[in-house]
Amino acid sequence: MGSARVFLFCSILAIFLNSVLGANKTRHFKWEVEYMHFAPDCVEGVVMGINGQFPGPTIRARAGDAIHVELTNKLPTEGVVIHWHGIRQIGTPWADGTASISQCAINPGETFVYRFQVDKAGTYFYHGHYGMQRSAGLYGSLIVEVGEREKEPFQYDGEFNLLLSDWWHKSSHEQEVDLSSNPMRWIGEPQTLLINGRGQYNCSLATHFSNSSGSQCKLRGSEQCAPKILHVLPNKTYRLRIASSTALASLNLAIGNHKMVVVEADGNYLEPFSVSNMDIYSGESYSVLFTTNQEPSKNYWISISVRGREPKTPQALTILNYIPTSASKLPNLPPPVAPLWDDYGSSRSFSSKILALKGSPKPPKKHDRRIILLNTQNLIDGYTKWAINNVSLVLPATPYLGSIRYGLNNAFDHKRPPENFRPDYDVSKPAPNQNSTYGSGVYMLNFNTTVDVILQNANALKANVSEIHPWHLHGHDFWVLGYGEGRFTEKDEMKFNMKNPPLRNTAVIFPYGWTALRFVADNPGVWAFHCHIEPHLHMGMGVVFAEGVHHVKKIPNEALGCGLTGKMLMNNVHN
Ligand code: C2O
Ligand code: CU
Repeated sequence: MGSARVFLFCSILAIFLNSVLGANKTRHFKWEVEYMHFAPDCVEGVVMGINGQFPGPTIRARAGDAIHVELTNKLPTEGVVIHWHGIRQIGTPWADGTASISQCAINPGETFVYRFQVDKAGTYFYHGHYGMQRSAGLYGSLIVEVGEREKEPFQYDGEFNLLLSDWWHKSSHEQEVDLSSNPMRWIGEPQTLLINGRGQYNCSLATHFSNSSGSQCKLRGSEQCAPKILHVLPNKTYRLRIASSTALASLNLAIGNHKMVVVEADGNYLEPFSVSNMDIYSGESYSVLFTTNQEPSKNYWISISVRGREPKTPQALTILNYIPTSASKLPNLPPPVAPLWDDYGSSRSFSSKILALKGSPKPPKKHDRRIILLNTQNLIDGYTKWAINNVSLVLPATPYLGSIRYGLNNAFDHKRPPENFRPDYDVSKPAPNQNSTYGSGVYMLNFNTTVDVILQNANALKANVSEIHPWHLHGHDFWVLGYGEGRFTEKDEMKFNMKNPPLRNTAVIFPYGWTALRFVADNPGVWAFHCHIEPHLHMGMGVVFAEGVHHVKKIPNEALGCGLTGKMLMNNVHN
């Protein structure tokens, strides 16, 4: 048995023992999604909230627990789904919460019950996965603690959770129309960065230092936009959980005067390493430990800054307050400054430090199939799109899971999407007119085979521009085998890290570079793999994988009531 199998066997055994011994719980939630007035950044607008909360309620569970979320759509005129980002949905692919992929959108007034197991401890989050509902504010935290009799491989005295996001004053609907127009109207940079749904537009907590903009915020602390302060005791170790649900921004986090030890990424333990600031891309999550060993009569900044795009958005700030120092005492040093937005050297160096904790499952030594995915920005009939091997993803009316499971033809393109791109394509030049098309094809993966994906970045439409794209895979973790610059060649395989590559569900491609991933197609279902920048996904930047769909058990009818599967259900009733 390979170590991955042994690991899988042990986790299944642990889950089994826990359920026999009655340690596992089913946690029930009743949620209503609706639009509501809210002022996330002190400016009132409309957000998509859950049970009157923004961000949505935090789910806390233990590894092995079952989660039941009874979700009622109270949006008057649009469907909704919720994706549980980082949860692999083993055995429950219909609960993945991806419209057009795993289920039909839940219609206004209707209820869908998400039932799934959280099998692995870690820091996760959830978010809307229909249109641009994540940009509308539909997200929240999902935290899985270790099982009752298990221990984390590190210790701490207390913990905090930061869910990071970015916020526009323009509605997500207007953004959708802007992005889909000819010519495309770019949405621009976010107005505000939010920490746990709170940020300050046009005022700053740190105006008494020269590098900050706006006027001094006058907040009493009870406002919807007032920062949540982190209260700590001196000489303790705290765990900070961080997840990024941003629509666009790549972020950098730092705590003034404090080092951070990174111990978890995307629900997988890391070989601990220490940093003074860290990059966080959309779709990623981390845990870091920090020790409150600084002068206790002072408070310290926690700052979030934009990386990877020329920032037009001020830092988001909150305060680390040493009890019993007054929380309203502002730090006497300016907020930490992030590396320059285009200092990709520092981003690469951070990424290279992320390695799996000793004893973590290792990747299979060989791949059965290698898919190379070229990322380009293209014009299709004048519309600006993102394309993968020259195919820009358009989601079908019938969710793939149902149409593949029940063999319904005509639900999507049956032409196989390309495995590679032209050998003479120059990734360092703007995309030539190369006949990009729309497509809804699926990469059919043979069940239980090992798949390599090489994400190849390239120049965008404008000369000398290549953007960062954080790619997120549903239904799996993958091993990040390596990063490189320029065009990937088979020789680069020699440089893959086969010793301790980290397991993750999100990995970035740097400008003009490539990133190599490996995963085992062992989870029956249909899984999205896409850039986690929401406008990019909206413009076609994703692909779809399917594996072992004939092993999928009965899909609940509630997931199938649209398109061709909806018709199928009706015919079955009448026959
Ligand atoms: Cu968090 Cu398909 O995304
Ligand atoms: Cu992207």
